Amino acid sequence: MAGESEKWILMATARAPTNIAVIKYWGKRDENLILPINDSISVTLDPDHLSATTTVAVSPSFEKDRMWLNGKEIPLSGGRYQNCLRELRNRAGDFMDERRGIRINQEDWNKLHFHIASYNNFPTAAGLASSAAGFACFVFSLAKLMNVKEELGQLSAIARQGSGSACRSLYGGFVKWTMGDAMSGSDSIAVQLANETHWKDLVIIVAVVSSRQKETSSTSGMRESVESSSLIQHRAKVVVPRRILQMEEAIRNRDFSSFARLTCADSNQFHAVCLDTSPPIFYMNDTSHRIISLMERWNRHEKTPQVAYTFDAGPNAVLIAPNHEVATLLLQRLLFYFPPAPNTELKNYVLGDQTILQEAGIQSLSSIEALKPPPEAKDNAPAQRVAGDVNYFICTRSGKGPVVLVEEDKALISSQTGLPK
Ligand code: DP6
Repeated sequence: MAGESEKWILMATARAPTNIAVIKYWGKRDENLILPINDSISVTLDPDHLSATTTVAVSPSFEKDRMWLNGKEIPLSGGRYQNCLRELRNRAGDFMDERRGIRINQEDWNKLHFHIASYNNFPTAAGLASSAAGFACFVFSLAKLMNVKEELGQLSAIARQGSGSACRSLYGGFVKWTMGDAMSGSDSIAVQLANETHWKDLVIIVAVVSSRQKETSSTSGMRESVESSSLIQHRAKVVVPRRILQMEEAIRNRDFSSFARLTCADSNQFHAVCLDTSPPIFYMNDTSHRIISLMERWNRHEKTPQVAYTFDAGPNAVLIAPNHEVATLLLQRLLFYFPPAPNTELKNYVLGDQTILQEAGIQSLSSIEALKPPPEAKDNAPAQRVAGDVNYFICTRSGKGPVVLVEEDKALISSQTGLPK
């Protein structure tokens, strides 16, 4: 580990997206390796709106591995972090910087320690899949720093051991996690079905729903489902394999009707499995159920799907429209039924891509008040406008996979002190 002094600090910074599953992963066959009982498919979300940024630093002067998440130090002792670190160290390559006199051989990586700082560009408390972006970024940035040579999706197999859904965040666009059948998990990897330019028209609106209740984590929820639900077996063996093929075809052909039908059905079945779990798990709340009813009514009124909805292990809705024109109608409906709580500023209520807001003709809070009930609304629609049930909306789209950020000012760790800036 030659170096002119032992003071050098080597760093890498990367950004990784989060993803939303349209065919859900729910249930493991191996808890330690995180091997699923079915394939899943997701859409990667635009990292400009929902992503994690991570800086990893290594130096002979660091005494132990340390990590800071959103500015707060967290323990790295958890099995999931340790499994990822072990896999990465096993695959690390040599590193050489002649100018700075730094030479790191493969074996040196086992002796060196890391400082890792990560932050999410969206509130962690929002209940959006922060672990997917977080672990994808953790693995991707360390792999770059350690010169890990990626072979056939093996980085995704490492991220998978941090959090199952994280493996899908290593690619942009549309991604399938194939469950694999090897005991080692080597074939349980993510593959890109199509990149983010394939179906550019899709618009995604996330409704961050207010909730007071502390949710069951995905990890323990799916363990309880595997232990007690009989529906989950039928889902994994019969329903999902068929849906995966249909979903791949819908994505290939940009067939929104099939895409929407499959996405909604799969979300509903995942939540049915949660209800079939003993004791039952309720991830959706009244607001989530109202969103489903309103979207279903709109789709039925138009006689062809206008919008797809999907819900993960929480009450937030992810709504997908086929293009800007329909997304505009969607946002108008959402703002009609879910106006902001008093004293909420519009800029804090509709986040992300502002063009849909402009196209919907919403310039101010009074334009929300002036919205008319949609044609499919029931007579009592105005009475159903309850402010404050949604905390905010994020307008986004499908996006690209992880990238290295080379700019010095993007680093979250100081190259002088080795500590968070
Ligand atoms: C409902 O990936 O968070 O979001 O593997 O235990 O970390 P662990 O679980 P996690 O589960 C995600 C479940 C889901 C569906 C999905 O993303 O496919």
